[in-house]
Amino acid sequence: MTRLSGKVAIVTGGASGMGRATVMRFLADGAKVVVADLNEANGAETVSVAKANGHGAAIAFVRCDVAKETDVAALVAEAEKRFGRLDIAYLNAGVGGAFGPIAETSVEDWDYTFAVLTRSVFLGMKHASQAMKKHGGGGVILVTASIAGMVGGGGSHAYSAAKAAVISLIENVAAELGGDRIRVVGIAPGVISTPLVHRGRPEKYEKQFGHQPWPDRGEPEVIADVASFLVSDEARFITGETIKVDGGLLAQGIALWGTGKDNTFMKSAGVNRGTTGEAMVVRNLRDKP
Ligand SMILES: NC(=O)c1ccc[n+]([C@@H]2O[C@H](COP(=O)([O-])OP(=O)(O)OC[C@H]3O[C@@H](n4cnc5c(N)ncnc54)[C@H](O)[C@@H]3O)[C@@H](O)[C@H]2O)c1
Repeated sequence: MTRLSGKVAIVTGGASGMGRATVMRFLADGAKVVVADLNEANGAETVSVAKANGHGAAIAFVRCDVAKETDVAALVAEAEKRFGRLDIAYLNAGVGGAFGPIAETSVEDWDYTFAVLTRSVFLGMKHASQAMKKHGGGGVILVTASIAGMVGGGGSHAYSAAKAAVISLIENVAAELGGDRIRVVGIAPGVISTPLVHRGRPEKYEKQFGHQPWPDRGEPEVIADVASFLVSDEARFITGETIKVDGGLLAQGIALWGTGKDNTFMKSAGVNRGTTGEAMVVRNLRDKP
């Protein structure tokens, strides 16, 4: 018996990056998975990898544009037709979307960004929850948000705003669906080494990959591991929550005084008594091993 035995999942954007890593993880955990993506070549490759790992009977691919309601409805119907029900919807597909100064951003590019990143999540929640209610027994809707939706400076204007909207949707829809035992949860990744970021050249983005306090690079599997937990019964009392998986990137904050050991406050120890007239006590730590 594995963690997700008997569960049926859909994973949008499952043909690449953290979506593909999560597809592999869900399969290893015993779930049946329908991969939904626009990229058919990468979808076929994902299915081949799953087959090579012995999961051929538990995976299917559907070409789907997550921004189109007819495609999302057809995706949910395909999961039901092929595997009999729907327990888990991982709404993860995404693109970088519109970028550039606000005065240079076209309405068309703005709308495309919100269609792929935000409308898709609304559509996924709408159709997945309908299916989950119909079959009974509850379910889990998991969404890939972003730390860019939580603070400034993590992405382009449109991308950040679209991800912030998704975080709000997670909270509000979780409150609605709790009574149906449908949990709605999110993951806010930090910088993860996927083709979306490195476009086949990870070495060019070492600065971004090394920005967080945790020394290791964020590989797609760090997201897959948290996704597996969040959709499992071990997380049964977590709903309406978006969990940062960012190696401490946001905990580091604005880093006004430097980061890590280079932080000014780490070079000496003592107490600053402000403008009280009492002396400040400082011990220099520079020579300490
Ligand atoms: N990589 C990061 O550092 C990072 C950080 C925060 C959030 N995210 C988010 O994580 C999610 C996954 O991104 P990734 O980094 O694994 O990127 P990726 O490019 O490796 O994978 C994204 C997948 O989504 C698919 N997709 C895009 N538009 C689609 C559409 N309209 N319909 C169906 N499929 C579509 C792509 O074809 C691709 O297979 C995205 O929502 C992204 O915004 C990524």
